[in-house]
Amino acid sequence: MNPALSQIGQQMSQLTGVRAIMKDIIETLRLNRGQDLINLSAGNPLILPEVEQLWRDCTHELMASPEFGQVVCRYGTSQGYEPLIAAVVDDFNRRYGLSLTERNVLVTPGSQAIYFFAANAFGGLSTNGELKKVVLPLSPEYTGYGGVSLSPDTVVAYRPRLEIFETDHTFKYRPDFQQLQIDKTTGCIIFSRPCNPTGNVLTDLEVRQIADLAVPYGVPVFIDAAYGPPYPSLNFTELAPIFGGNIVHCFSLSKAGLPGERVGIAIGDREILSALEAFQTNACIHASRYGQAIAALAIANGALAEVSVNVIRPFYQRKLTVLEETLRTAFPDDIPWFLHRGEGAIFAWLWLRDLPMTDWELYQHLKRAGVIVVPGSSFFPGLTEPWRHKQECLRISLTASDEEIALGMERLAATITQVYQESPSRSYSDLFA
Ligand SMILES: Cc1ncc(COP(=O)(O)O)c(C=O)c1O
Repeated sequence: MNPALSQIGQQMSQLTGVRAIMKDIIETLRLNRGQDLINLSAGNPLILPEVEQLWRDCTHELMASPEFGQVVCRYGTSQGYEPLIAAVVDDFNRRYGLSLTERNVLVTPGSQAIYFFAANAFGGLSTNGELKKVVLPLSPEYTGYGGVSLSPDTVVAYRPRLEIFETDHTFKYRPDFQQLQIDKTTGCIIFSRPCNPTGNVLTDLEVRQIADLAVPYGVPVFIDAAYGPPYPSLNFTELAPIFGGNIVHCFSLSKAGLPGERVGIAIGDREILSALEAFQTNACIHASRYGQAIAALAIANGALAEVSVNVIRPFYQRKLTVLEETLRTAFPDDIPWFLHRGEGAIFAWLWLRDLPMTDWELYQHLKRAGVIVVPGSSFFPGLTEPWRHKQECLRISLTASDEEIALGMERLAATITQVYQESPSRSYSDLFA
């Protein structure tokens, strides 16, 4: 059967960003089963024994409690499971000196749902027929934002400034406030902090500047802290979450070992959250209460914050060190490679300046050399302007063993070195004709 899709049906059927390349990666892994292929493409976190044990313990506690039937045998409110909301309010008020009430919290089935609801509640066609944009202030960004809007051409992203540390082989993206346009055509703003794919953490000042630009237009700013503190605390640099006014602080328990249970949480102004909550009621009623109930236990007794800081963060930070150290010894001096400053998340982001082929061509070379990474051009949702940099980057996942990361980086550095040495630099128009 070939059902006739609506405009929205077609829009939602498109594979955006990294989902398109994942098809190719899955096929490659299938065809090469049993071969020596190191897969550094995954966004799925690893199962850490201490983290699994935490969720197992919370499950036992829940099953033994009289609350169990209320949790799994009954519907709840769309806003979320009350004990989870109470645990979040208490923990955040105590940690960050806030005065949140339960009205400032909304629970969704995973944090992706927050951005989907926000992009369509505040972005898209307004009641007077104007298109309200979903603005990503700095690109590259989380590829999942590329598919959040039900109307086409709504997500727009801006090119960053690059701060390059030549001798150190590192760089950092900065928002370009000369270009960034936030005005009456803006519906909402979204950015990840720490950022997937780059590991970038926008400074407090940069965040405040973006939020201040949005205030006069009544535009909400969604800060995606899927990797931020206090859970999963995958920040490797100082990072204080920012709350209040038009800012909605959003987080997820997926990188804290619970991606299968789909728990996302938004903290912010009640009027903003009400619009999202209504959207949620229509879409799915509420998030799974089992996931919310075990999350409530792990937050209330402090175990989730503790395992985040003492297990999850050091685990991935060590992997990043292995990756950096291997690349530093494996690349000859004259190769223009630059790692984004590793300030958080579970990826490394590699920029290869003046790469004499596209990132897709390089991805194919790397597959043949036995290492799979994700071509960087998948991570520029909403940035339509041509920019060679988009084809010069790779995302490397830290979700592998130390040995695999070290061997994968040796193969990657050898392949890239050969590519630079053997291919005469092609002009930009040759590459993308
Ligand atoms: C930056 C970022 N935001 C949001 C999500 C979605 O996470 P979830 O819906 O599992 O909470 C992810 C998932 O990888 C992510 O990397």
